[in-house]
Amino acid sequence: MIRQVLDHGEDQEGSRCVQRVVCPGSFDPVTNGHLDIIGRAAGLYDEVIVAVLINVTKRSLFTVDERVEMLGQVTSRYGNVRIERFHGLLVDFCAANGITAVVKGLRAVSDFEYEMQMAQMNYRMAKVETLFMTTNPLYSFLSSSLVKEIARYGGDVSGLVPDIVLSRLRERLAEE
Ligand code: PNS
Repeated sequence: MIRQVLDHGEDQEGSRCVQRVVCPGSFDPVTNGHLDIIGRAAGLYDEVIVAVLINVTKRSLFTVDERVEMLGQVTSRYGNVRIERFHGLLVDFCAANGITAVVKGLRAVSDFEYEMQMAQMNYRMAKVETLFMTTNPLYSFLSSSLVKEIARYGGDVSGLVPDIVLSRLRERLAEE
């Protein structure tokens, strides 16, 4: 049962609720666009859980462990960000972890339709709210898939992913 939250994050008994949100995704690999949203969410909420989807049906470049490790390294400056992994429904992960809202970045109108559908479904299923942040225009064209494709064909993706991800990408693609 979700407690009714009054102004300043206080519930009806006057005790303060922890405002814990989740940034879910595949993060294969984490980009500077993801990092921008995670960092801004960390400035707004008490706790941010970055949840990496374990999706056995989708072919990925990095294993879940590798993605979690990279996320941990690039978010280590934030004391209130934790990296987790999940499978199944996001709303079940939220219920199990006391999470009241999902934070998502919206890059462009093209993101909107699918994101709105998921947001409404998550609310319908479990009253989990979704909060959208407009992405930094510097990264509005950025996606993990494009980064992988460009890097695979020798294009320059520096500045689009954190430096440690850049070197891991180079290593992994050299193995292919
Ligand atoms: O980075 P992605 O792949 O765009 O992230 C998509 C993600 C993980 C946020 C979304 O696929 C998701 O929430 N998957 C968990 C399964 C689920 O809850 N499906 C119903 C959504 S209404």
